[in-house]
Amino acid sequence: MKTIGIVSGAVLFAVAGLGISASAVKQGVAKPVVQKAASHQTGDVARGKYLVEEVAMCGECHTPRDAQGNLIEARDLQGAPTWIAPVHPDSNWAWNAPTLAGFAGYSDADAVNILEKGIGANGQPIQRPMHIYHMSHEDALAIVAYLKSLPSLPQ
Ligand code: HEC
Repeated sequence: MKTIGIVSGAVLFAVAGLGISASAVKQGVAKPVVQKAASHQTGDVARGKYLVEEVAMCGECHTPRDAQGNLIEARDLQGAPTWIAPVHPDSNWAWNAPTLAGFAGYSDADAVNILEKGIGANGQPIQRPMHIYHMSHEDALAIVAYLKSLPSLPQ
């Protein structure tokens, strides 16, 4: 009888323990926190479009130009040879601006380094004439969201 009492006590304890953890899970304490963090990480596409097209003017360098020097709209942000040259020789000058449409090949961490710190995906300072931007995290995420919304070039 004594043994049965101990065993049933242990079972009761275990059930009570399960009850506590089950109710903690039921309360879903962790779930809303995770969802909030996730939604905070998603950039605002409309704001990104505004920043890219009207404020930072990324297309001025990342969109190719026709023979008259006008941007080729149909190839918006698809990468371009650098159309401006330095006044003085500059060994750190980049002669190509890569494609940004689709933003394939860059992680969010790359984007943070490039747009918030001026550090390239290779860990080196961004080359001229690309600007060293010091964007807010929110603006950088908005730009990434917009660039990802554009169709990637066929590989
Ligand atoms: C004045 C010309 C110019 C403007 C404006 C410009 N870029 Fe660039 N960008 C370049 C050039 C040139 C490179 C290549 C330099 C390098 O890779 O270091 C480059 C490189 C990049 C890279 C690749 C960096 C890497 O490490 O591979 C990204 C991403 C990028 N630009 C995004 C942007 C975005 C987004 C904007 C607008 C917010 C923008 N650029 C505006 C000229 C420009």
